[in-house]
Amino acid sequence: MINENQIEETLASLFENISFNAEPAGLYDPLRYMIGIGGKRVRPRLCLTAYSLFQDSFDDRILEPAAALEVFHSFTLIHDDIMDNSDMRRGMPTVCRKWDDNTAIISGDVMSIDSYRRIAKAPAEVLPQAMELFTGTAAQVCEGQQYDMEFENEKTVSMESYMKMIGLKTAVLIACSAKLGALIAGADSRSCDLLYKFGYDLGLAFQITDDYLDTYGDPAVFGKKIGGDIINNKKTWLLTRALEKGEELEASGVIDPKFGKAALLRAMEMKTGNEADKSAKIAKVTEIYEALGIDEDVKYEIIKLHAQAMNYAGMIGLSKVRYEMLHRYADRLLGRNR
Ligand code: IPE
Ligand code: IPE
Ligand code: MG
Ligand code: MG
Ligand code: MG
Repeated sequence: MINENQIEETLASLFENISFNAEPAGLYDPLRYMIGIGGKRVRPRLCLTAYSLFQDSFDDRILEPAAALEVFHSFTLIHDDIMDNSDMRRGMPTVCRKWDDNTAIISGDVMSIDSYRRIAKAPAEVLPQAMELFTGTAAQVCEGQQYDMEFENEKTVSMESYMKMIGLKTAVLIACSAKLGALIAGADSRSCDLLYKFGYDLGLAFQITDDYLDTYGDPAVFGKKIGGDIINNKKTWLLTRALEKGEELEASGVIDPKFGKAALLRAMEMKTGNEADKSAKIAKVTEIYEALGIDEDVKYEIIKLHAQAMNYAGMIGLSKVRYEMLHRYADRLLGRNR
């Protein structure tokens, strides 16, 4: 059986040896930069882990598709950083800051194309399914990103709309990673579908963790600036729940109105013209989250989704050692601080 050390070694060598065209450097250097500074590699790791549940050794059939997931994901981050006006990513300046927005657009485009070249190397017998899964997922990520941007201009969104939005922008790619690994390993369709559901719920929990860390993370470890979501009025799990809970508690008169929904809506209108304004807005919104206990509620939501994901994993019928490997993957994903 493939163990986690082999998965880590395979991941490391996959991205050490990955190559992109040399010229024009202005186009390809940002790709090398993004892959070189390296993220957590959550998606290819999940793909290789899912594959390992059904196969006992790695070969080229799985490596290029696994790389495709990371290349595609990194492309979405390059464009996301333009859209979110972000300065830092993976502890380094974003591509749009180190170069400029135009470079980030075209380098992101070619990175997306590169990911298609890699996914197309999936074994012939599963290629139509792999392409359908990957392209469908890629379109959904764009749909999710569009909702995410549109929600910035809404005063409030329902929890249902929020969950649908993060399902699209984040969970489907994690679900796709799990299913793709199983598909290429030749797993039966029931197992593939259960791994998709496992990945989806884990992906929801992953985005909610990201929302939490955007307010409560340590920037030196998280690798991104803290408070960007608050500045942008992003409809995160924290904000969505705080608006709901603020209204509930206000209606029943158990919260000081200065921490209720109306106060939060006012805080969202605070100006963000300079660094002092930004800090004041982040402090105000965070103060309301804490008064409402949102910083604690979010932890329960993550645990609930993790348990739902493990429930699907339990239905696959894996041997104990294989189930435990999947369990460790899920624990590690959500115990993260970066
Ligand atoms: C960041 O993804 C965007 C989200 C979907 C939350 P990751 O947290 O996987 O970013 P890297 O790849 O490790 O940098
Ligand atoms: C990004 O969500 C999800 C993508 C599909 C790129 P975020 O905007 O929260 O990701 P970060 O926090 O910038 O990594
Ligand atoms: Mg974003
Ligand atoms: Mg962002
Ligand atoms: Mg985020």
